Amino acid sequence: MNPVIRPIINTDRLLRELHHLATLTDCPPTTDATLPAPTTAVTRIVFTPRDLEARAYIKSLAEAAGFSVRTDAIGNTFLRFPGSDPTLSAVGTGSHTDAIPHAGMYDGTVGVLGGLEALRSLKESGFIPRRSIELLVFTSEEPTRFGIGCIGSRLLGGVLDPAIADALPDRLPESDPQAPTGLTLHDVRTAAGFTGSLSTVPLPPNYYHAWVELHIEQGPLLEREQISLGIVTHIAAPASYRYEITGFGGHAGALLMPDRRDALCAAAELILSVERHTLAANAASGSADSVATVGTLAIHPGAVNSVPSRVNLMLDIRDTDVTRRDAILTALRADIRTIETCRSIAISEHQINADIPAVSDPHIIATLEHFCASESISCNKMVSRAYHDSSFMARVAPIAMLFIPCRNGVSHRPDEYATPKSIALGTRVLALTLAKLANQ
Ligand code: GLV
Ligand code: MN
Ligand code: MN
Repeated sequence: MNPVIRPIINTDRLLRELHHLATLTDCPPTTDATLPAPTTAVTRIVFTPRDLEARAYIKSLAEAAGFSVRTDAIGNTFLRFPGSDPTLSAVGTGSHTDAIPHAGMYDGTVGVLGGLEALRSLKESGFIPRRSIELLVFTSEEPTRFGIGCIGSRLLGGVLDPAIADALPDRLPESDPQAPTGLTLHDVRTAAGFTGSLSTVPLPPNYYHAWVELHIEQGPLLEREQISLGIVTHIAAPASYRYEITGFGGHAGALLMPDRRDALCAAAELILSVERHTLAANAASGSADSVATVGTLAIHPGAVNSVPSRVNLMLDIRDTDVTRRDAILTALRADIRTIETCRSIAISEHQINADIPAVSDPHIIATLEHFCASESISCNKMVSRAYHDSSFMARVAPIAMLFIPCRNGVSHRPDEYATPKSIALGTRVLALTLAKLANQ
């Protein structure tokens, strides 16, 4: 059975679908003339009408291809290409279709539509897998709406308590970068049609025999080194924190400088402290593996003629080495105590998540390497500094990831771009790898 597997990737179809998916956006086309063409601006926040349209589109493609579709209580969607032995654990691939505000059209979507094309091309070639092959479309890989990333995969991997997940406050960015709308994730998912208890979401043991996610690199290394594909050996450990800085506000003209307890000035010191300690950590390790970002800032009351009395901000900090990440936080906390004392300001910290790195499975890495070699495709092993749903699939399955280069290493921006050739190569190696794993 299945002596030679020759999937033919239909690149035109895949690109057509990627471009159609990109039309499901809440972002107007970018007018930034400084960005290189092509640009496609995509905003697709989880559980908004655009997200639901994207889900319906993927479902229609899956059904047209003859795959069955099921959705769990958080909205993770499973497309199944049934194997000849349904008693065996499945082989999985997939990614996400939600997009942060003003993002590009390839982050996550290449893994979803490339994954679909991989399954479709295998089916069209007449291949019948021994193990079923599944494509999983995760809910809320991006942290935009509920403050924490990878909600669907955290639940699948048993890493997020279902009750805590359901209680997460909705913070739609359209209203205010930080302000809760008063709704919870439970309210929002139910209104979107995803009902039932989240306790049913975690995967049973050994559900997946192997898991492979296709994704754009989101960094510059493959392009810089002119390497066609990247094979991910580790995914860096992300952590995120919310800080509330409380000072004392007042009239911007009448409140005298010596009497001020300006929350935004304190925030500025905190942000610069993050940068200083992260740069120092890289200098000490001789690597670029420590990264930290303050990407949201909400200023109260937010008037030009009012001294800021309160600031809320979020810190995203990642490292391949958790000890080094924690050392940066320890140094930051010491600075925070100094800022509080010197400025008579209160700063509270709330941990949102502090995850561990994920490590890829040597056998899946070897399988990916084997097909890169047999197809004469250059590849490098590499670390992912971005996090992915695979970080949490690693808790319940052997995983690996396959990266394709993206122009100038750019991601989370409208000028994110990957060439059709790279997308096709990644999809081909994914298809061959899934087929091989599914026949084990
Ligand atoms: C995923 O989008 C990440 O922020 O790494
Ligand atoms: Mn992203
Ligand atoms: Mn992504």
